Amino acid sequence: MKSKIILGIESSCDETSVAVIEKNGDRVRLLSNIISSSIEIQTKYGGIVPEQAAREQLKAIIAVITESLRSAQCKPQDLDAISVTQGPGLIGSLLVGVETAKTLSLIWDKPLIPVNHLIAHFYANWIEIEGQPSFQPPIFPAIGLLVSGGHTDLILMKNHGVYEYLGGTRDDAAGECFDKCARILGIASYPGGVKLAELARGGDPSQITLPKPMLNSGDLDFSFSGLKTAVLNLTQKDPNFNDNLSNIAASIEKSIVDVLVKKTILAVQRNKIEQVMIAGGVAANSQLREILQIELSKAQSRVELSIPPVSLCTDNGAVTAVCALFNFKEVSPLTLQADPNITLRI
Ligand code: KG4
Ligand code: ZN
Repeated sequence: MKSKIILGIESSCDETSVAVIEKNGDRVRLLSNIISSSIEIQTKYGGIVPEQAAREQLKAIIAVITESLRSAQCKPQDLDAISVTQGPGLIGSLLVGVETAKTLSLIWDKPLIPVNHLIAHFYANWIEIEGQPSFQPPIFPAIGLLVSGGHTDLILMKNHGVYEYLGGTRDDAAGECFDKCARILGIASYPGGVKLAELARGGDPSQITLPKPMLNSGDLDFSFSGLKTAVLNLTQKDPNFNDNLSNIAASIEKSIVDVLVKKTILAVQRNKIEQVMIAGGVAANSQLREILQIELSKAQSRVELSIPPVSLCTDNGAVTAVCALFNFKEVSPLTLQADPNITLRI
């Protein structure tokens, strides 16, 4: 059987990423995954300045495409399709990827596949990892927990392109909470998740009591803005909070992880599911990965947890290409429009 090769372009936020993936039988392999980030510039401003992010992406995209093809040892004529993040994201950033993909689709005469970035994150779980011969992709039906900088959602994925929305955050996303708390504590400007998690490693969460919002609400929704406010209040009341930074960071991380784990297990039990997968930047968090695994095996013995490699949790073109591979819906390059408001809620 002929293999299938797809180019994936992702530019929904501050990264410009282009990947080439190949499907051979049941195996999905990464041939290249190039990521150019303007994070250093964005960090100086304490967050993403949308117009500036888009300008940097416009400057980077041709070089990133060229490098991705070169590193995959691929020529445009080898490609079976071009896929691109259609949304959600920052409109200026999305336009860079979408308009480039439309142009390439026309000049190279290749099918164009638009992708929902939120669903795409889950496809990190389908990419075979080099040197891991026992690799198995997730099996449907699966509970999917998406935890990124802008989204926290639980879905029941029944098949490729077929899912039920189970719940999501009513305010801040989990990653947003990590980032905002890191900023309040003065440990990182943007994004702060990794720094906060590093600091938490040396701390004792039991030393600081923080809320675990909606832990016992009985539904599958989340809310993280109250936790951020509690951290702000704590720093305002205690001028010496800096002496306790590791414990505070550990308590913030534990609050977020405990809520994510509890709701994911609830979703598994309510739907009698034996497969869970996590995705998005916060899925790189080691506490979430470990505690979810431990609690799932306590709650139900026959449940498999699929965890993507850390390098594929944050934004990248590979997940765009793999999502397109399994959801191959071609559109006209003359009519495709970037859509910043796509959600998982249906
Ligand atoms: O999925 P992603 O790359 O971008 C969006 O599509 O939003 O996620 C970025 C988010 C940021 O909020 C970042 O702080 C968080 O993921 N993040 C982490 C970790 N690594 C990235 N949060 C906690 N622990 C980590 N190790
Ligand atoms: Zn993302």
